[in-house]
Amino acid sequence: MPIAQDMKRWSSLFTSSFLLIAANAFGAEEAKVSGLKFTGSPSCASTSCHGGGTSHNESLIYERKDPHAVSFGILGKGTSLRMAESLGIKGDIAADSRCNVCHAPMQGVSATHLVKDLKPDKGVGCESCHGPAENWLRFHTRPDVNFQQIVATGMRDLNDLYGRANTCVACHLNLDEEIRKAGHPELYFELDGQCIAQPRHYKDVRPSLGPRSWLTGQAAALREVSWKLATKPDEHLVPRWKALVWLLQKTELGVQELPQTGDFSAMQSAADGLARKAALKLWTPEVVEKQLKEYVSLYAEFTDAKADRVVLRRRAEVLVPAIDRLWKEHKKTAQTDAAQFESIFNTLHLLAMEHEDFEPAKFSGMLGKLQLAFAGRAEPTSPVRKPDKVK
Ligand code: HEC
Ligand code: HEC
Ligand code: HEC
Repeated sequence: MPIAQDMKRWSSLFTSSFLLIAANAFGAEEAKVSGLKFTGSPSCASTSCHGGGTSHNESLIYERKDPHAVSFGILGKGTSLRMAESLGIKGDIAADSRCNVCHAPMQGVSATHLVKDLKPDKGVGCESCHGPAENWLRFHTRPDVNFQQIVATGMRDLNDLYGRANTCVACHLNLDEEIRKAGHPELYFELDGQCIAQPRHYKDVRPSLGPRSWLTGQAAALREVSWKLATKPDEHLVPRWKALVWLLQKTELGVQELPQTGDFSAMQSAADGLARKAALKLWTPEVVEKQLKEYVSLYAEFTDAKADRVVLRRRAEVLVPAIDRLWKEHKKTAQTDAAQFESIFNTLHLLAMEHEDFEPAKFSGMLGKLQLAFAGRAEPTSPVRKPDKVK
């Protein structure tokens, strides 16, 4: 089939599959919708392709450092065995779709969606993020072919922050209630920080990328949680949903896009619209500063004695990463005393991670201090321990 005709066919298929609002990584379902085939991570890894020297070493970085390359490994460990037992999973855990959709997505793909004789990747492979490669593997390096043409044949456009957020959020946020109850740790999603935490095999130095990526990711998260709640009631998830709505309604785009009240389905489509807009919105240093100022001034919202403590805890969980991502951007141009701001911020972060033991009043006090530091009016503080892990 001539490339142009072929591309038209695939692009129409892709538009239709992207209309499904809920996010998906490339796995069994997507391959079924698109009819595309996977070629496996080793097909990208030859030394003349992505397994070579410093400028084309993506496969080496992935194999040596990226947790996605070994994401199936955890399924053989004690925690997984205990979870499997309580879920009634017998035999190979990696063969069970309840776990392999995220930890070993290629294991759930039928042979008809794999190129001939392919042994499927064990972990989250290149194609789980970049899309099934059968139709573009050979021609994506040709100098006469542009990126949009490659995307039209099935490569996912991860440069588009909306598409990127959809890819990551599919595995990094929603868990079925039964899996959570079986002891799976809770999942948190924040696109900017998680992109930076993934061992980098690409450069992305676009202006104001941090805030853009953060807002796009949180909007995608709200859409996903809304979708989940619209599908099935889950009391545990409602406070997380409320917290995301609260957070996003304090942004300029959020005020425009999100309904003040609304059911989960209405919020789902509004949040999708917000994510699409946020992906394109550039942030000037003034807008970053304004947003940060707004977030650090919210201490009074954590002292309301009538407020639900669980909701307050969930607010803190989303507010801290928001401040973190905005601060990282603001710091590039700011006059604020960074050492002092960061030392207070680290304590705030620890307080937000207390989960069940979360104390709103303490958090509120620390947020108040952060506001003073932001305004350049804080008392000097003693150094604090750095948080172990940024969530
Ligand atoms: C929606 C995607 C998803 C599903 C479904 C899922 N996991 Fe996970 N799981 C993750 C992610 C993402 C992490 C990494 C979390 C982190 O490090 O922040 C993880 C982490 C884990 C961990 C590590 C916990 C730790 O303390 O480090 C174990 C064990 C685990 N998963 C087992 C399972 C088992 C067993 C199943 C099936 C019953 C399962 N997972 C289903 C996405 C998923
Ligand atoms: C967890 C998701 C994920 C996995 C797994 C993954 N990538 Fe990527 N990759 C990305 C993202 C996100 C980008 C940034 C895309 C952009 O901005 O254009 C990227 C960018 C790239 C780029 C473009 C580099 C550049 O600077 O232009 C190459 C090449 C690449 N990946 C190859 C690979 C290969 C080969 C593998 C498997 C060994 C792989 N990726 C696995 C997410 C992933
Ligand atoms: C097909 C599912 C899947 C997709 C898509 C995916 N991840 Fe993951 N990711 C996982 C699983 C499972 C783990 C846990 C691996 C482990 O610890 O064994 C993980 C771990 C990680 C970790 C290390 C643990 C943590 O949470 O800090 C980072 C960072 C990460 N992913 C970032 C990303 C980013 C960024 C994207 C999108 C560009 C992405 N992931 C897409 C499944 C996925």
